[in-house]
Amino acid sequence: MRLDKFLCDMQLGTRSQVKDLIKKGQVSVNDTLVRKPDFQVDAARDHIACMGKSIVYQSLYYYMLHKPAGVVTATRDNHESTVMSLLPDASGKHLAPVGRLDKDTEGLLLITNDGELAHNLLSPSRHVAKTYYVECTGTLSADAVSLLENGVEIGDETPTRPAQVKVLTQSADFYTIELTITEGRFHQVKRMVQAVGGSVTYLKRLSMGTLSLDETLSKGSYRALTEQEIMALKPSKSSEL
Ligand code: URA
Repeated sequence: MRLDKFLCDMQLGTRSQVKDLIKKGQVSVNDTLVRKPDFQVDAARDHIACMGKSIVYQSLYYYMLHKPAGVVTATRDNHESTVMSLLPDASGKHLAPVGRLDKDTEGLLLITNDGELAHNLLSPSRHVAKTYYVECTGTLSADAVSLLENGVEIGDETPTRPAQVKVLTQSADFYTIELTITEGRFHQVKRMVQAVGGSVTYLKRLSMGTLSLDETLSKGSYRALTEQEIMALKPSKSSEL
């Protein structure tokens, strides 16, 4: 692979930042300074150093898991089964779930060892959209919809940010909606529904940013993300390629 791509993958900076480092003579391959960003390296065999520090190659892995209910979103837990136990070939890859779904919540969970991507998706300032399918008991009035849409008090310092509500079905005491939120507060969807007089009986995450749950994945199964899915999650990097 190209030397600049290798350095980017190893999180040394953006494509333009690592190109600068290379051009300034800060990078060596097998103890020889290399000033060409497109210099080809064998990531697994060459000894690459930046500013005198060896860069140990670590591949980046990206998986989507169809999380079932009954497992906790954690890398380890002394009492409960974790989502990581559903990825048999996870060991040694330093994988971690991106964000958290409650034990009884199902649906899309991204699991990766790309810390930069995880940070970007979770950063409160980025307002990454997450869409949930929600089944609720209670009555959904027009006022309740507009509260959810405009921001509702859920007992925090500030009301929730505006959300999108798509009403799917509605009867006297039960309704289903798709709710898109751009924050990640604790039990946020359940608390939003509670704040408008309802109660969530089933919750499933359908998407996070550009990534949608692959509905061909059965509950508890996972697959690697495609190259397109990974690139779409990292728009700034793909535009630099
Ligand atoms: N909101 C919740 O209440 N629970 C989840 O698991 C995710 C979002």
